[in-house]
Amino acid sequence: MIPPGSIPPAPIVPAPIGDVAVARRVSALSVAAPYALPTRGFRSSVIRLVSGAPAPEALPLDDFGRTAAELFADAGTGAAALAYGPHAGQPALRDWIAGREGVDLSSVLVTNGALHGVALAFGALLEQGDVVVLDDPVFPDTVRIAEQYGARVLPVRVGPEGIDVQRIEDHLLAGVRIRIVYTVADFHNPSGGVLPAKERARLVELAEQYGFVIVSDNPYRDTTFDGSYVEDFATGSPRVIKVGTFTKTLGAGLRLGWVIAPVGLLGHLENLRRRTDFHSSTLSQELILPLLNQPGWFDNLLVHNRSVHRAKAEVFVDALRAELIGDLQFTAPAGGFFVWARLADHAPAASDVVTAAAERDLLLTSGRHFAPDGGSQWDRHLRFAFSAPTLSELPVAVGRLRAALDACR
Ligand SMILES: Cc1ncc(COP(=O)(O)O)c(C=O)c1O
Repeated sequence: MIPPGSIPPAPIVPAPIGDVAVARRVSALSVAAPYALPTRGFRSSVIRLVSGAPAPEALPLDDFGRTAAELFADAGTGAAALAYGPHAGQPALRDWIAGREGVDLSSVLVTNGALHGVALAFGALLEQGDVVVLDDPVFPDTVRIAEQYGARVLPVRVGPEGIDVQRIEDHLLAGVRIRIVYTVADFHNPSGGVLPAKERARLVELAEQYGFVIVSDNPYRDTTFDGSYVEDFATGSPRVIKVGTFTKTLGAGLRLGWVIAPVGLLGHLENLRRRTDFHSSTLSQELILPLLNQPGWFDNLLVHNRSVHRAKAEVFVDALRAELIGDLQFTAPAGGFFVWARLADHAPAASDVVTAAAERDLLLTSGRHFAPDGGSQWDRHLRFAFSAPTLSELPVAVGRLRAALDACR
């Protein structure tokens, strides 16, 4: 039942080891190709539609500046912000996250971002050869984590309505023993899809019936353009691990996220994480805590972020429709940072378009990066990240894309 050639996805480049003999479990690891073609040096004319990072103008830079100054104006709080902290995170931050997620503080672990949370969950649960269902297309770094633990990857299609839960059930009925179902339920990276509440509830039922664990990696939940939220996986279920992050709201460089896990499992995750980093940055945690604790501060920030990203999505989508109608098929996103588009059958190949675009100072990501099994199913797709460029750069980017496509014909 498991499709052949599960791991790793293309393209792979050999791991550089040099003269030092590293452990085989390390030298055997694949190395992900970069999301974009490298550019020679820094050129300000380059427009990068490649990074899933929030718009710089969406970040609360002034608030951070003030908080940092206050933190270090006092020797006590300054030194405390540079001290060791508890492995599971600052209790006040765990408490804030717990309040927002509607869970008890004891089921919250502060992590170094969502990727760390996924790595801890996979590390705690997977034995060699276990079957992990991954989104198809998938956030590629997750494939590397599954590979690290010797898991067998079972790709399941993700569409505008998220992962195909019926397909997962078909696999279970056919006798496949699944250990983890990993999915990005809100504003999926790269495809933008959202899993309806009914399907989330059904997946939890299946998890409880068949004994697998849902690892819900959800960095984009708060990036909803209209402010609406789909009812999420029930946190009360012992079969649900939720992974969240401040990367998409407060900035990736803070390296702060969280895991919500059943209490019995949380201790194991904490035990695992302390072997590599003790705890997440005390400084990052202390920097955001006074802001999060101001009533309404985070919700107001989300409203601001939403309007910034929604405006960029509209400008970008309008420009794509005006310039490339007929060449590209896509659904306008309702949140998140991406447009996932298929090149029409008569249009050039995505890899040629990526190269021609780079020659015109436009960086794009080819869909092939997002195949969990290294297959060619997304070879005609492109992922455009519209959040980071300025509003005025977005139509320019689309003009360069048009020129790139024309040059490939
Ligand atoms: C689906 C998904 N998971 C995890 C991450 C990593 O997030 P973090 O920076 O919080 O580790 C990203 C970032 O792009 C993502 O898109």
